[in-house]
Amino acid sequence: MNPPVLTATDAFKALQAHRAQANEWRLRDLFTESPDRFVQMSLSGAGIFLDYSKNLINCETVQLLLGLARECNLEPQRDAMLRGDKINLTERRAALHTALRAPLDKTIWLDGRDVSRDVHAVLGRMRSFSLRVRSGQWTGYTGKAITDIVNIGIGGSDLGPKMVCHALRSFAQPNLAMHFVSNVDGHDLSNTLSKVNPETTLFIVESKTFTTTETMLNAQSARSWFLGHGEIADLAKHFVAVSTNSEEVAKFGIDTDNMFPFWDWVGGRYSVWSAVGLPIALSVGYDRFAEFLAGANAMDEHFRNEPLESNMPVLLGLIGIWNRNFLGCTSVSIAPYHFDLSMFPSYLQQLEMESNGKRVKKNGSPVDMATCPVIWGNVGTNGQHAYFQLLHQGTDITPIDFIAALTPNHSLPGHHATLLANCFAQSEAFMLGKTPDEVRVDLKVLGMAEKEIESELPHRVFPGNRPSNTILMNQLNPSTLGALIALYEHKTFVQGTIWDINCFDQWGVELGKVLSRNIKQELIGEFSAASHDNSTSGLIELARLAR
Ligand code: F6P
Repeated sequence: MNPPVLTATDAFKALQAHRAQANEWRLRDLFTESPDRFVQMSLSGAGIFLDYSKNLINCETVQLLLGLARECNLEPQRDAMLRGDKINLTERRAALHTALRAPLDKTIWLDGRDVSRDVHAVLGRMRSFSLRVRSGQWTGYTGKAITDIVNIGIGGSDLGPKMVCHALRSFAQPNLAMHFVSNVDGHDLSNTLSKVNPETTLFIVESKTFTTTETMLNAQSARSWFLGHGEIADLAKHFVAVSTNSEEVAKFGIDTDNMFPFWDWVGGRYSVWSAVGLPIALSVGYDRFAEFLAGANAMDEHFRNEPLESNMPVLLGLIGIWNRNFLGCTSVSIAPYHFDLSMFPSYLQQLEMESNGKRVKKNGSPVDMATCPVIWGNVGTNGQHAYFQLLHQGTDITPIDFIAALTPNHSLPGHHATLLANCFAQSEAFMLGKTPDEVRVDLKVLGMAEKEIESELPHRVFPGNRPSNTILMNQLNPSTLGALIALYEHKTFVQGTIWDINCFDQWGVELGKVLSRNIKQELIGEFSAASHDNSTSGLIELARLAR
């Protein structure tokens, strides 16, 4: 089935014509005209609630966007992904992360094999390993229980487990400290090593390929540090690996009995559900890790079964398409009003920008329109006191996803109501803005003179009409967190499908990796300035002089 040229589809042309009307819309008027807008434009699924009513859309916009999804064959492509078709064309692989969170009785065939069995066999090993470590049965080389876990990995082998362990820290075992080392900058590892005791530290080396420079160098250095205390024979008690590459794991010197495998059909940024989630099982316990998987699976079933008009990832993705391709927004800000979700924006950066930061379609021809916006953000209320000024009154319009839990995981009185009040007030302020007349009334009440009011007016007006989604859950817990991540995974897939790009490869990270290998040799060995442009050569010279 040949994909349609997006700009030539009937739905796209209709949306373009419709967009011209949107110039006239004021969100505050749309709310006044439609008292049930909130009810019409909100939905629940898998423990997550989405309010998309504060976007610059009306019911017709939604219908037209759904038409675009149908013309772009979203449903058959969704089914192909969930079925395990090899939709990652450039790497000739399936993208079957959903199989990692499916129940055991769900048979999923790939290349003549029921992958569900393989998945659950590894989950069983993760369960018994995490039980042994958490109970103190698994001991270090001097017989002491493990007190510190150091995860060494980068990208998907770091961001997922780090973000989730942080988000679920109120469910964590207090006597097991989690550390994450990702950066090749030795300051990262040396700082962590200075805090841990080799007798009671377990290193998890996580790498899908087990060839990633940063991870391998950090793992080698951690191994050398450990061997400054223990013996080679003790390594097995302190180093385990998570990878798809058993050969490289064995070469590194980790017993493959201490390796937790996953498979090439799991993309790095979709791997938190696999053995890459081992730090999570260690931190919060296997049963909670299973709840995390079940939460994601509930969102998968919602995505698979709900009609498009009540399908949360579909609506979230399509509204993003409207904002990006019709309203011209170049970035999306993620604002979790939950301190434990502070790493969620960074996690989404890899998920969305590595997946959809592409400029050619699946068939290699240039895309028809702009693809992934820049994803960025920070927790509320901190962001309010840093960059929200620009979001309210700057020249660019940045859609925002507000994310909050209705009940907190702490018992301090007063805090949560203040937090939620800020979250809801911000989305209201972005939507409503403040008109010149409203500002005048306020300033008059303050007793300001007419002339002064008029000179201050432009600075105090808020244009409003700025779009946002609000995503709520009752409580941030393993299940709702699983569903939240899966929501964004599927949103990313929906958008990639509309743009007709391969969400599952990442060739864009290769060039820098290759060049850095050459430059490293030139920093420490032979160097000829002629092999680079004069800026790069100049920088290399400076670094060589400083050595
Ligand atoms: O460089 C990008 C990337 O390939 C990511 O996609 C991946 O998550 C990360 O590197 C780490 O890769 P690995 O798990 O193979 O070490």
